[in-house]
Amino acid sequence: MRTQVAIIGAGPAGLLLGQLLSRQGVANVILERRSAQYVLGRVRAGVIETGTAGFIDETGAGARMHREGLVHDGIEIAFAGERHRIDFRALVGQGVIVYGQTEITRDLMDSRARSGAETLYEVDDVSLHDVAGTKPRVRYRKGGMEHEIQAEFIAGCDGSHGVSRQYIPAPLLRTFERQYPFGWLGVMVDRPPVAPELIYTRHERGFALCSMRSATRSRLYVQCSLEDRVSDWPDDRFYEELTRRLDGATAAKLEPGASIEKSLTPLRGFVAEPMRYGSLFLAGDAAHVVPPTGAKGLNLAASDVHYLREALVEYFRTGSRAGIEAYSSRALARVWKAERFSWWMTSTLHTFPAHSGFESRMQEAELTYLVGSQAARAALAENYVGLPY
Ligand code: FAD
Ligand code: PHB
Repeated sequence: MRTQVAIIGAGPAGLLLGQLLSRQGVANVILERRSAQYVLGRVRAGVIETGTAGFIDETGAGARMHREGLVHDGIEIAFAGERHRIDFRALVGQGVIVYGQTEITRDLMDSRARSGAETLYEVDDVSLHDVAGTKPRVRYRKGGMEHEIQAEFIAGCDGSHGVSRQYIPAPLLRTFERQYPFGWLGVMVDRPPVAPELIYTRHERGFALCSMRSATRSRLYVQCSLEDRVSDWPDDRFYEELTRRLDGATAAKLEPGASIEKSLTPLRGFVAEPMRYGSLFLAGDAAHVVPPTGAKGLNLAASDVHYLREALVEYFRTGSRAGIEAYSSRALARVWKAERFSWWMTSTLHTFPAHSGFESRMQEAELTYLVGSQAARAALAENYVGLPY
């Protein structure tokens, strides 16, 4: 099989890239290790920046997002038992859309199926060949048979545990990592949200987040220990702990219900540089991971895809390699800003086992300054809604 761009991974990065390229006449094939059903079952991100929404619109897959997604003009930050609103619309003139990653994935898959572009699910043993040159190949197994795709470029959109990154020669690859000493235990429940907007809560027992997927479905998180297992958190314990961390008024609104999904995510930040080697590009979690506190993971995947499709479309239209040469540095400039914001949100709102009373007071001072300063609130707002491209 021949194609212009072989895309590894059918997560948000791979699907979005595939659809943007198809729309602009660039042929592509997506190879995914899992089944479509499995990919759709992974509950992850929930906040979409305006810029990301714009890219989804460009693929023609945005209609349901605008119909069913919730436009939020701010968030609330709670600490010391009180809630404080950060009004994005007033501060920076933009909001965000609350719409699940599972729904975006579904919309992009549907739009891809309609366009007739090829996605191969349940492929095994994906390996990349000759990525240093201009005729890279991808080999894989499907249905017990060996197959090969000849491409002009390969996009490694295969997430943090994918294979693509390892094809950048070790001497050229630099990685940067911070592992946080805690995780998030997340629960999905068919109960109305406790408030119209997301509430990020700092509490000495640990961080808590009240998010949502719709007017009738809540997504709730508590900071937990890295040693914890999902089975350590039956629903009763989860609600009891969440109630203790929330301010009184919010806790009173919490309607416990049987969880329909529960998962545990260790928090970490990770960046691999560079994001291109020869004809191989990395995009999304394949190149970087952020802790979820800033809601940036999915949005960063879209950000990389934006720069990458510009580069590829320019190349296929004009023969110019300028965008290709600039891809890694352009993408990384935005990645590091989002890493910084996610690190700041995480550091300010979580309880760290090694912290002394001093650091705890610093967090309180940071938050008191934040809610009292228009400049500080505007800084949070412009990062949360998404920095300009
Ligand atoms: P992925 O979504 O990881 O997609 C990569 C795809 O590649 C997968 O479908 C995978 O099956 C496939 N793949 C992997 N290896 C191979 C291979 N060898 N061959 C073929 N295919 C392969 N972000 C937030 O903003 N908020 C959250 O609450 C949040 N929660 C998260 C919870 C978890 C457990 C994880 C892992 C991430 C979470 N994120 C969250 C981050 C966000 O979901 C990711 O940033 C986003 O999914 C990145 O998209 P992606 O397409 O780059 O990678
Ligand atoms: C979510 O709804 O899953 C969500 C929202 C905001 C975050 C992280 C996760 O910062």
